[in-house]
Amino acid sequence: MASLPPISTKLAHYPSLQGQRVFITGGGTGIGAAMVEAFAQQGAQVAFVDFAETESLALVDKIAAAGHVKPWFCQCDVRDVPALQKAVADATTALGDFSTLINNVARDDRHTLESVTPEYWEERMAVNQRPAFFAIQAIVPGMKRLGGGSIINFGSTGWQTKGSTYPCYAIAKSAVNGLTRGLAGSLGQDRIRVNTISPGWVMTERQIKMWLNEEGEKDIQRNQCLPDKLQPSDVARMALFLASDDGAMCTAQEFKVDAGWN
Ligand SMILES: NC(=O)c1ccc[n+]([C@@H]2O[C@H](COP(=O)([O-])OP(=O)(O)OC[C@H]3O[C@@H](n4cnc5c(N)ncnc54)[C@H](O)[C@@H]3O)[C@@H](O)[C@H]2O)c1
Repeated sequence: MASLPPISTKLAHYPSLQGQRVFITGGGTGIGAAMVEAFAQQGAQVAFVDFAETESLALVDKIAAAGHVKPWFCQCDVRDVPALQKAVADATTALGDFSTLINNVARDDRHTLESVTPEYWEERMAVNQRPAFFAIQAIVPGMKRLGGGSIINFGSTGWQTKGSTYPCYAIAKSAVNGLTRGLAGSLGQDRIRVNTISPGWVMTERQIKMWLNEEGEKDIQRNQCLPDKLQPSDVARMALFLASDDGAMCTAQEFKVDAGWN
């Protein structure tokens, strides 16, 4: 393949994100961290939860040192629903109502059909499915007070391309479109938009360390339309658009950021 010039970095600035309050689950590393940073760069006040304390505090320091609004962080295991709801309540008390919620947290651990016990099944749903519903339940009253909001649920293209190494994760992720479409109608009456972002294979620290190998590199070249590897910041830019006033009439949709794989 002929070598291409670098990808353009002339990116959008959204005036409507200035001062917006954004709540993100799993914001300490990976795509979540890219979103925490991207929203802070737009002048938004971000609050995030994660169970990885060291990485999260380092991210908060990095953003504050760059001169952006310091993100609010609370260590929280989202499998504990009351703890997640308390984090939302504490963040609301500290900062005010949130106009954007990003349900990002997930863990794509590998498993086989044969290995799954009822306990493992429950644990997979407790991290990959349940937190999004209860975070929405906790955040929506504040969005109603604000007169609208944007909820962004993270799906995946993995199950859509028949990724077969994580059936429970695939089940949980396929339900994200149901969550989005099941709430968009009723919440839309309050101008609360609900959308899914489904990433392709994104080169987070975890993906590179755990799963990217020579075969994976070949898969990317074979399946993506575009030659470049997806970065967390590529996905964050879709979230910025959906949270901004520019996305005002987008709801009940799934937006794929997968370089054309699916
Ligand atoms: N990276 C990809 O290739 C890819 C592909 C498709 C979909 N996605 C989706 O994008 C979203 C972000 O994925 P990612 O790759 O950045 O994930 P990641 O594993 O890199 O990061 C997830 C974050 O969530 C945190 N976390 C995990 N379990 C937690 C728990 N129980 N309580 C609190 N925090 C917890 C982790 O500490 C981490 O900071 C997920 O919803 C994922 O399903 C990612």
